[in-house]
Amino acid sequence: MTSGSTSAAGKGTSSVKRTVRTHDCGALRGTDNGKEIQLTGWVSKRRDHGGLIFVDLRDRHGLTQITFDPAVAEGKDAHELAGRLRSEFVVWIKGKVRSRPAGMTNAKLPTGEVEVLVNDLVILSEAKTPPFAIEDETEASENLRLKYRYLDLRRPVLQKNLLTRAKVLGIVRNYLDSHGFCDVETPILYKSTPEGARDFIVPSRMNPGTFYALPQSPQTLKQLLMISGMDRYYQIARCFRDEDLRADRQPEFTQIDIEQSFLDEEAFFPILEGMMKKLWKECLGVEIATPFPRMPYKEAMERFGSDKPDVRFGLELQDLSGIFAKSEFQVFKNAFVKNGRGISGSIRAIVVPGVAEKFSRKDLDELTAFVGPYGAKGLLWMKVNAPGAEGGELQSPAAKFFSDEEKSALKSKLGLKPGDLVLCVSDAKNKVVFDALGALRLKVGDKLGLIPKPSEHKYAFLWVVNFPLMEYDDKEGRFFAAHHPFTSPRPEFFDDFVKGQNLDAIEASAYDMVLNGVEVGGGSLRIYRPDVQSAMFKLLGLSPDEAKEKFGFFIEALSYGTPPHGGLAFGVDRLAALICGVNAIRDVMAFPKTASGADLMADSPCAVTKEQLDELGIFVRQPTPGA
Ligand code: AMO
Repeated sequence: MTSGSTSAAGKGTSSVKRTVRTHDCGALRGTDNGKEIQLTGWVSKRRDHGGLIFVDLRDRHGLTQITFDPAVAEGKDAHELAGRLRSEFVVWIKGKVRSRPAGMTNAKLPTGEVEVLVNDLVILSEAKTPPFAIEDETEASENLRLKYRYLDLRRPVLQKNLLTRAKVLGIVRNYLDSHGFCDVETPILYKSTPEGARDFIVPSRMNPGTFYALPQSPQTLKQLLMISGMDRYYQIARCFRDEDLRADRQPEFTQIDIEQSFLDEEAFFPILEGMMKKLWKECLGVEIATPFPRMPYKEAMERFGSDKPDVRFGLELQDLSGIFAKSEFQVFKNAFVKNGRGISGSIRAIVVPGVAEKFSRKDLDELTAFVGPYGAKGLLWMKVNAPGAEGGELQSPAAKFFSDEEKSALKSKLGLKPGDLVLCVSDAKNKVVFDALGALRLKVGDKLGLIPKPSEHKYAFLWVVNFPLMEYDDKEGRFFAAHHPFTSPRPEFFDDFVKGQNLDAIEASAYDMVLNGVEVGGGSLRIYRPDVQSAMFKLLGLSPDEAKEKFGFFIEALSYGTPPHGGLAFGVDRLAALICGVNAIRDVMAFPKTASGADLMADSPCAVTKEQLDELGIFVRQPTPGA
């Protein structure tokens, strides 16, 4: 008997190991009727029927009903002890499987045909009353659940998610191993890798005043492995990015990181598509069609206002710039004001058919407020009223500014019918128009129930290709790498790239895999010539000294015989969330952090001792109140 445990057989010891089970709680079936078995698990529910006591015993494999009957002589002690059982006690039982009487079976439970009549019970450990009930459906706040994550993880739904995630990784490893990819681990204490976020840094005690950076991804390392001749690499890699968090972003997350030498998109995409096919088949039993459609970035933005479009529903964006090119309406005129770099904006809209009546002024005000954070100065709505001349009058706060020609051009371009609602954003920056309408499309699609639910198993994979190589940042007044600075320009733009001209228009050999509006993976073909890589750093505004300090080792490595290469990284958390049908990646991570980057359970991040700081030569300035 385990010390500290309480046994029904009282003080004595027994030859039976009273911590060991013969079956798990999900295993027993009708065919086991009559077997003597031992089970272990947590008390999920206890129902005391005066004489009989029923307990649902739970482990990660399932639930089994165990029954204590005072009328059965050899189970008398166990029955007495069972009166003490409370939720989440951990117990060991010995008993006999018996078929449940007709009418008492539970078809919802795989073990529902049987129960176990207990004749011996050991309470292995007792439990305090948990702060929330351990059930799939819970009212408990997420913060409370994160504080007691180990209890939260007892909920079958989360256990199932973790098991699915493990299955995903198992399938991926098998698949990549069988395609000749070699699993290589790379350091966590490393140097800054530019993926566009802030680095988490770690002070070095042995080299005071210097810091490691945790990798935002193993990007340079996997490229170095190609230079080493590893040919095909993969790693289930932890990545760290200090960036604003949201439902599909965590400060530490996991990638399936892949790199291959001597490839192009045509050789590489089928390998990645094959991996998705296998995952969906083995995890969900769903057959997905390959090859995936490819959509140029420009088309994705113009049709969906997003570089990760959910193409499962309509409400596509329409460009109204042509119709209103000579508009007298000041808001529209502003769209054509050239900014410093001669780039103008546009006027675009989505048409929501047949809902004009459904959207009240309050609804429209809410949608206007919704687009604000995307930079939109407003949202112009137009409703097509009940039939008048030519299929309905246009009602809009701006209608008086529209000429008859503009109105009829609008109706015919958008194919407007009475009852239609038009939601329009105009801005001098295309990015604002796309961001606002792209988000609005999803919001309205959700409100109207147009977006399929996970349970419908509708999967729309696609590749978004031909991304811009660089993006101009107005605030900083310089170009940034749109993906990362190791991404190669597409061959037809090489000339402009080398000459440093038309930088806005240069397209990259970069690609994202998108599923149902989520970017599940991103990658590119890489620059493999040192002169081109140096040119890239220069265009990004790095002085030769800065480039040398940050990436000198890498540029040098490129000069020792580098194979053409490329790769991609999938977000494991996002893939697992999509396969599990959940929205937040937190639900497929064992110990996630809150939106403010905190671990509520371990209370991290936290202060460290003065001795630790002294050893590192670090002085912490007290935060200024209110700063
Ligand atoms: P990228 O930055 O596009 O590319 O990241 C690849 C994939 O990682 C996932 N991801 C995240 N998941 C959760 N939380 C985050 N904060 C987070 N950030 C990214 C996404 C994304 O598609 N080194 C390159 C890959 C390459 O070029 O080969 C890279 O990291 O699913």
